[in-house]
Amino acid sequence: MDMKTEGVLVMGIETSCDETSVAITRDGREVLSNTILSQIDIHKRYGGVVPEVASRAHIEALTNVIEESLNSANMTLDRLDAIAVTYGPGLVGALLVGIGGAKALAMALGIPLIGVNHIKGHIFANFIEHKSLEPPFLSLIVSGGHTHLVDVLAYDDMVVLGRTKDDAAGEAFDKIARALGLGYPGGPLLEKLSLSGQPSYNFPRGMIKEDNFDFSFSGLKSSVLNTLNTLKMSGEDYNKADIARSFQDSVVEVLVEKSFKALIHKKRDTLVLCGGVAANKSLRLAMEKRAKEEGIRFLYPRTILCTDNGAMISCAGYYSYLAKDFCDMSLNAVPMLKLD
Ligand code: KG4
Ligand code: ZN
Repeated sequence: MDMKTEGVLVMGIETSCDETSVAITRDGREVLSNTILSQIDIHKRYGGVVPEVASRAHIEALTNVIEESLNSANMTLDRLDAIAVTYGPGLVGALLVGIGGAKALAMALGIPLIGVNHIKGHIFANFIEHKSLEPPFLSLIVSGGHTHLVDVLAYDDMVVLGRTKDDAAGEAFDKIARALGLGYPGGPLLEKLSLSGQPSYNFPRGMIKEDNFDFSFSGLKSSVLNTLNTLKMSGEDYNKADIARSFQDSVVEVLVEKSFKALIHKKRDTLVLCGGVAANKSLRLAMEKRAKEEGIRFLYPRTILCTDNGAMISCAGYYSYLAKDFCDMSLNAVPMLKLD
């Protein structure tokens, strides 16, 4: 088949944490396949991601996930135009598995290798969901490892306005969920519990009044843990759902406040939410309500594109492909890779 008529086909490989995922997109925004193998069941018994276990599971899974992704796209390797892969930030051993696989494919097929920043990938999930979305816009990335407010000026030009000084938003969800005995991963379980709770505890809103776009969730975390300990020691009756609801309200309020402060400061009219915590319905609703009041366009991707996936990496890889931003075989994992 003529390459030009079938568009640019990019395979995206994601292994930065606990999902082995391989996707194929056409011209960046059309997803032909997005195969995701979650390691949640493996890590559940440890209460969190164990890096060594994650690397091993990626090694065992990657070839099969690549094959399944090709099959479900009805695709053959020889039709691919480029291989994109997450090279950071993330767990070094986990990243190296994806990078190794991507290099082998790119070399064997004689096509470009593209290194993608994982955080950028989360933002690009929105280009898949919203076909007419174009920069500039403001993006809030909230995941298990990151909380960033980013001014997206162009596909290859982003400025980080603020970030968390300590825990990421998702990390805070996971830690409080653990303290409440909810299991792993805690975010979705805590959200579910919060639905039957009242905001009866007034937990701190970290850095909400400060004149910057940074976040802090460790004070909130300590406050919730102290409250829980005091309640347990006193033998008083308490409702876990009230704690969950009050905690979530604090996180949501801070995320909304800071995002809208940044929108005004940067005079942007569009806010784009992404990352695992973007799956949280209370957060989406609060953002939607505020956006309506302020006349801001508010977008987020469907849940499967919020958490880690290969499609977002493939989409970001497509725009690097257009810019001829290719890597050679020296591409290495960068666990603390920055966005700008
Ligand atoms: O983006 P992601 O899959 O991985 C990272 O790059 O970190 O995000 C995973 C994080 C976890 O901390 C998880 O608890 C959180 O996203 N999360 C949620 C929800 N769904 C996932 N947090 C709050 N509410 C949810 N519904
Ligand atoms: Zn992620």
